[in-house]
Amino acid sequence: MRKIILIAVTVCLFWAGSSAVSASAEDKTPPITQVNVQVLGPQRLGPLPPVIAPPGNPPSSLKIHLGKELYFDPRLSADGTVSCASCHDPALGWSDEGPTSKGIRGQLGGRRAPPVSNAAYSPLQFWDGRSPSLEDQAKGPIQNPIEMGNTHQAMIQTVDKISGYVEEFRAVFGEGPITVDQVADAIAAFERTVVTTDSRFDRYARGDHQALTPLEKQGLEVFNGKGHCTSCHWGPYFSDGRFHNIGVPAKDPKKPDTGRYAITKNPRDMGAFKTPTVRDAARRAPYLHDGSENTLESLIDFYNLGGGKDPNLDPLMLPLGLTKLEKKALVAFIKALDSLNPEVANVKPIAPDELHK
Ligand code: HEC
Ligand code: HEC
Repeated sequence: MRKIILIAVTVCLFWAGSSAVSASAEDKTPPITQVNVQVLGPQRLGPLPPVIAPPGNPPSSLKIHLGKELYFDPRLSADGTVSCASCHDPALGWSDEGPTSKGIRGQLGGRRAPPVSNAAYSPLQFWDGRSPSLEDQAKGPIQNPIEMGNTHQAMIQTVDKISGYVEEFRAVFGEGPITVDQVADAIAAFERTVVTTDSRFDRYARGDHQALTPLEKQGLEVFNGKGHCTSCHWGPYFSDGRFHNIGVPAKDPKKPDTGRYAITKNPRDMGAFKTPTVRDAARRAPYLHDGSENTLESLIDFYNLGGGKDPNLDPLMLPLGLTKLEKKALVAFIKALDSLNPEVANVKPIAPDELHK
């Protein structure tokens, strides 16, 4: 596998190098058509394929609508103040203000809220990958004491008293009592619709040569080549779905967040976190699992130094020697990954007075 990646990076460096030459006179960078995406090998940067729902939770428009209502409904929390959208707000790139999340009664968590947008493409959920699916994940926050602070039983009792919900659950899941699995299935079905298929990069990848500016095209080349970003952020999801230690310094060295290690107990996973997607990153500062980088510029500076100092630093992290212009180009490229899908970027929350009574 590593060999394949090396070959791909070489091909890519060659590709980036050759097009950089032609770009200097006037902009002749070849658009990444489907063919070129193939040539880029395992990096496969390009538009996201359709989402595949698990066989146990087939979507329907009624189920998705129900899931959306539940997602925006703070009554799922113990005191009716916190909904999923409190920490995964469409207006904040489906994340929150950060650096870490504020849950019920203003309690602060230890990690940054990752985006719900495109989470459907993540093979494992959470920064440490401790949850295998969106269905499984959705049950967690409801009874997390510092998130929604409820119990599943009390949450179901609340939903059971809202006649509009009872009717809808019946229509989607049939007769019988409402269960926490149904709540989670509906929310997960909604989350699978929160997918970004239309950024300017996607338009470019589909063959619209004008969709990216010359600076953004240069940024794409740096992302693929000199920046080594595609060592980890590859594929249409811009993530390998794996876990890496990029050397983010612990806020409290006596109590470091051990990341993936807490799940696998494999020493190689110490301080490793899931590679987040770069899609829509510009919409959701601050960055990293602890929200410690405030801007894309400071994050790129961090990468340029080869990441942080950590005994378990991933060998794929290298000092990059990027010029000022290359750093600027990278930032411009990341901004071109912002979704233009109105149904994802500007989803209207369901207003409290429109929720079921
Ligand atoms: C108080 C804030 C808060 C609330 C409320 C909350 N979340 Fe989260 N969410 C987080 C944080 C923080 C993480 C990351 C935690 C970790 O990795 O350990 C997370 C992780 C996730 C992930 C994983 C994404 C990924 O890429 O790994 C999904 C999906 C998600 N939440 C969906 C939901 C849903 C659905 C709800 C409502 C049922 C919800 N969240 C409620 C803060 C919150
Ligand atoms: C060794 C693998 C690896 C390489 C190489 C790498 N990244 Fe990352 N990236 C990660 C991981 C893992 C995280 C999350 C780390 C954490 O929070 O501890 C991350 C986080 C990010 C984030 C923050 C996203 C968010 O939601 O917080 C952005 C943006 C990003 N990387 C862009 C880049 C760019 C640009 C490059 C190239 C200069 C790059 N990455 C190279 C693995 C990598």
